[in-house]
Amino acid sequence: MEKRLLTLAAVLFAVVAVVPEVSATRWTVGSKMGWTTNVNYTIWAQNITFYNGDWLFFVYDRNQMNVLEVNKTDYESCNADHPLKNWTRGAGRDVVPLNVTRHYYFISGKGFCYGGMKLAVRVENPPPPPRASPVKSDAPLSILNRPYLLPAVFAIGAMWDAFVHLW
Ligand SMILES: *[C@@H]1O[C@H](CO)[C@@H](O)[C@H](O)[C@H]1NC(C)=O
Ligand SMILES: *[C@@H]1O[C@H](CO)[C@@H](O)[C@H](O)[C@H]1NC(C)=O
Ligand SMILES: *[C@@H]1O[C@H](CO)[C@@H](O)[C@H](O)[C@H]1NC(C)=O
Ligand SMILES: *[C@@H]1O[C@H](CO)[C@@H](O)[C@H](O)[C@H]1NC(C)=O
Ligand SMILES: *[C@@H]1O[C@H](CO)[C@@H](O)[C@H](O)[C@H]1NC(C)=O
Repeated sequence: MEKRLLTLAAVLFAVVAVVPEVSATRWTVGSKMGWTTNVNYTIWAQNITFYNGDWLFFVYDRNQMNVLEVNKTDYESCNADHPLKNWTRGAGRDVVPLNVTRHYYFISGKGFCYGGMKLAVRVENPPPPPRASPVKSDAPLSILNRPYLLPAVFAIGAMWDAFVHLW
């Protein structure tokens, strides 16, 4: 009996460990509008929680705009003279990893920042319960948090029962 429980526990652990982690999000800056003029990126970002591990995806007219990461002062004054990082790769499609928990500031150079092409995001650590790694969290709780797992668990239990009886 005890051996059977141990085996079931092992199977459960395997199921829990195999379920993929909630993946990081790639946010297209400005959503359908992209990185352009006449979008207020403060409003675009206001309802989004950016987590460490997410990405920003800047889609824009490569012949006109660019993507420069600057500090807070240069974000506020639209100063493109000394960017912290030039993310412009040339195709008008730049991906920026938000891999540090801090504020990030982006502007477009070439004068567009003055028209509002500026984005500030605050990157947070992912909260433990919903986005935590399933391997790290304790099994019973994470099963309760994943309703779709319970049927799988019962199915495996039933299969195991059938297997034991056949044997
Ligand atoms: C942000 O959320 C508020 C409150 O739910 C809503 O009124 C507003 O339209 C949302 N803004 C955007 C840009 O989605
Ligand atoms: C941003 O960089 C400029 C130029 O290097 C500097 O004068 C300014 O103090 C910096 N601001 C912050 C908030 O670090
Ligand atoms: C940014 O990098 C791109 C591609 O290397 C380059 O063409 C552009 O001049 C750079 N812009 C600035 C402001 O450094
Ligand atoms: C974050 O990503 C940048 C660009 O890919 C990389 O240079 C940097 O080392 C990364 N930082 C961390 C803490 O992973
Ligand atoms: C964007 O909207 C916010 C909130 O309504 C406002 O404070 C800000 O000035 C606007 N930014 C631009 C560049 O228009």
